[in-house]
Amino acid sequence: MVKKCLFPAAGYGTRFLPATKAMPKEMLPILNKPLIQYGVEEAMSAGISDIAFVTGRGKRAIEDHFDLSYELEHQIKGTNKESYLNDINKIIQKCTFSYTRQIEMKGLGHAILSGETLIGNEPFSVILADDLCINSNSHGVLYQMIKIYEKYKCSIVAIEEIDKNETNRYGIIEGKLIEEGLYLISNMVEKPNPKDAPSNLAIIGRYILTPDIFEILKNTKAGVGGEIQITDALLAQAKNGMVLAYKFKGKRFDCGNIDGFVEATNHFYKLLKK
Ligand code: G1P
Repeated sequence: MVKKCLFPAAGYGTRFLPATKAMPKEMLPILNKPLIQYGVEEAMSAGISDIAFVTGRGKRAIEDHFDLSYELEHQIKGTNKESYLNDINKIIQKCTFSYTRQIEMKGLGHAILSGETLIGNEPFSVILADDLCINSNSHGVLYQMIKIYEKYKCSIVAIEEIDKNETNRYGIIEGKLIEEGLYLISNMVEKPNPKDAPSNLAIIGRYILTPDIFEILKNTKAGVGGEIQITDALLAQAKNGMVLAYKFKGKRFDCGNIDGFVEATNHFYKLLKK
């Protein structure tokens, strides 16, 4: 069973400077809700209540967000503003939160390895909060992936088709279709140039990982950008056993850049005004 979800949240969010100078990028709001809360809600709708964060310096606001604010509660008690805190308070009641810090910024693979102390020896999920995923009126992406995990019991990455000239922004997979929307990975490359990319199937920020990934990560050398890449560790895992790539149902907003962020904002604003 996948019981835990790990949120790597140590990155600087330089694309959003100066907004992210003193505030974690995960706390940037789409309407009135921070990105990270959308991610936690997706994990919860997949049946997960054990939430683990890999944070870093300057990320205290994340901890405070997933905690009671007595002074604020007291201040708005009995007013019509009280209900604004209903959703977050439900999350706080239902979930447990644990935190560890990534001391040095050595890449996503290193961030996930830093989370080992919170995960232990069990399969787990990973959400990168700046990939905001929706699947209107149906199951979320993590839920879909957990169903697949229950059948195959191996690591799984979420993928989507991207424009071929954007391959240098993603991990790109190559694989054999084994059932509708599901590929057995034979190769994966982190941020290849379009001319070297094995396909246009890009990894997006949802993973189910089996715990042997930690040992593999410990032996994974720095790759693209001098960083320890989860993509490289997953390729090693694929070569020794199997890793699947799942073309999820739904839509992803790339909230790690301004265009995607505005697109997500417009999407949720339209829903609100319906
Ligand atoms: C990370 C991964 C990459 C993946 C992407 C999805 O890259 O390394 O393989 O495609 O997330 O958002 P980053 O966006 O952190 O550079």
